[in-house]
Amino acid sequence: MLESVERRVEQFVGSLNEHDIARVIKKIPAGKRLRARLMLEIAGSSKSVIDTAAIVEMIHAASLLHDDVIDDADTRRGVASVNALYGSKSAIMIGDVLYSKAFYELVAVDKFVAQVVSNAVVQLSIGERKDVVMGEQFCTDKDAYLEMIYQKTAALIEAASEAAAILANKDREIYRVYGRNLGVAFQMIDDILDIVSDTETLGKPALNDFVEGKTTLPYIYLYEELESMEKEKLKSMHRRALSVSEQQWILSKFKEHKIIEKAKEEAFTLINEAIGLMQKAGEKGLEKIALKMVDRSF
Ligand code: IPE
Ligand code: IPE
Ligand code: MG
Ligand code: MG
Ligand code: MG
Repeated sequence: MLESVERRVEQFVGSLNEHDIARVIKKIPAGKRLRARLMLEIAGSSKSVIDTAAIVEMIHAASLLHDDVIDDADTRRGVASVNALYGSKSAIMIGDVLYSKAFYELVAVDKFVAQVVSNAVVQLSIGERKDVVMGEQFCTDKDAYLEMIYQKTAALIEAASEAAAILANKDREIYRVYGRNLGVAFQMIDDILDIVSDTETLGKPALNDFVEGKTTLPYIYLYEELESMEKEKLKSMHRRALSVSEQQWILSKFKEHKIIEKAKEEAFTLINEAIGLMQKAGEKGLEKIALKMVDRSF
């Protein structure tokens, strides 16, 4: 079924009749396809589901092209990022092509699906911008972090889930909440992996968030625990390249205060709620997806 989504993305991109752009997009590896998998699991594989899943994955890919420009990331999905290969200007415009083509195709699916998905892209863009602005200062406001990750990441996963429910004539609300919880937890785990994993496993730069100014959940928790001198030390490392010993200091403090465990627990609470909803709805496959998502290594 996922294969049909891949083919649909290829067809959408092919129908642009822009060989140069199609060549660049074709070289982008597929990624985990979490959003498409979720949709197929909820709604099966009718044409409108395949179309919408392909559209959502094109939107997601567009957001990553822009995100790698924003985050100065030279690696994505295990290979050089589009901005690293062709420059930021091309990455931005190919992202725009993917977004626009996705919206063009979305109009043909279903009005309510189109509203849900396009609204999520508004949220995603607002969230990405908040991420940038918040990163300009050392920000330890947890509520602001939670709102920002909901917008930049969970909104599209929530929309994918809700759109699939609409197409399958299932209860929109239950699947919306499931997708929302999954999405917020997904970004929390992504932020944890930035700290505990390495570039090769992740397929994208590791320990890069803090360098880019991002005080993600583990940094927020760590700051709460540190003594005042240490708080100043951490702040002095914000938003700049770190030496190996500075990196080691941060990692040792995470360990000392059991910060990663605490952050994971927060993600697990959301996932358990999502699993509870799916147990009630008899959706075994969606329970599995939620569990696998927190248990991932990239
Ligand atoms: C990456 O999303 C961006 C985030 C929302 C953290 P994914 O982790 O789903 O990326 P791919 O599609 O598998 O590469
Ligand atoms: C961005 O979050 C998520 C998007 C909305 C694209 P990140 O910046 O943490 O995503 P990665 O780690 O680069 O995949
Ligand atoms: Mg990024
Ligand atoms: Mg980012
Ligand atoms: Mg990340």
